[in-house]
Amino acid sequence: QAPLRVGVAGLGNVGATLVRILQKDGAELTRKLGRQLEVVAVAARSRSRDRGIDISGLEWFDDPVALAKWDGIDLFVELIGGEDGPAFAAVKAALEIGRPVVTANKALLAKHGVTLARLAEESGAQLGFEAAVAGGIPVIKTLREGLGSARIAKVFGIMNGTCNYILTRMGNEGISFADCLRDAQALGYAEADPTFDVEGFDTAHKLSILATLCFGYEIAPDKMRVEGISNITQHDIQVAADLGYKIKLLGIAERTDGGIEQRVHPTFVPKGSAIAGVDGVMNAVALETDHVHELLLAGPGAGGPPTASSVLSDILDIARGTRVPPLGVPSDELLPYREAPHRAH
Ligand code: HSE
Repeated sequence: QAPLRVGVAGLGNVGATLVRILQKDGAELTRKLGRQLEVVAVAARSRSRDRGIDISGLEWFDDPVALAKWDGIDLFVELIGGEDGPAFAAVKAALEIGRPVVTANKALLAKHGVTLARLAEESGAQLGFEAAVAGGIPVIKTLREGLGSARIAKVFGIMNGTCNYILTRMGNEGISFADCLRDAQALGYAEADPTFDVEGFDTAHKLSILATLCFGYEIAPDKMRVEGISNITQHDIQVAADLGYKIKLLGIAERTDGGIEQRVHPTFVPKGSAIAGVDGVMNAVALETDHVHELLLAGPGAGGPPTASSVLSDILDIARGTRVPPLGVPSDELLPYREAPHRAH
């Protein structure tokens, strides 16, 4: 079988980790797949920055759109980030020519996911985005392939590793919000602009992707009630603990009689509940369905290796020629969107 030639745009934490894994484990992956898998080209802002990887033998592109269209690759990986700009232009360009794309970009998908899914369906190209929600947890695969005909009533969970890391350390060690955030940035968990993490927007992006998959309903994150954790104090955490609760930033989307409700806010969760035990950079996504009742998927939600591992799982699916079910672009028969009332989880 012909080799699968991969082009990677964006060499930040996740991009550089992915290239390192592919270079290090390339021979083993090739053996397992029966097909050679190699990174042949990269695009990034700076060619000379030290990322701890050797890119000297790779084709270099300043412009990610040019890489996305280059006929020397079979698969385009977008790890640039940002909801518009070069990420959108490059993913669109690749899908338009029928080239498979793997992306970890939740902001992009929250804004343009339906447009991109339509493009992918029209051109027959695969669009993989496992890494966009909950880092290393295979939640997208579970939703697209793992639930059979189960009807989902509710999806909720901890979807931002940075916030969960901050809340956990504030609670366990009494460290200030600012110090915890600084550590989360140093560990490579936070967004380039950490406002997205701590104000809840990153959770809103991920929740809107999950809700679209769960309910076939496109709900823009800007329609959601979103409240982050930047106002949470040690006092709040202490009061919660005294009452037998922990504070977690949850994203919640559910069917109600009046339509689909979505919201993101800090929530009191009872100590001893499964979700309360999810600490540190871990994420957890709970799915309530008619057949399975409640399913909880938990694992590392941010950071280079877990996120790159999810990107790699999409790449391997494409290399094997696995056809996943179509994305189920929202239909016209939809429940109305309902403004979420202010109430507890
Ligand atoms: N900044 C994100 C988080 C990265 O902390 O969860 C993973 O999407």
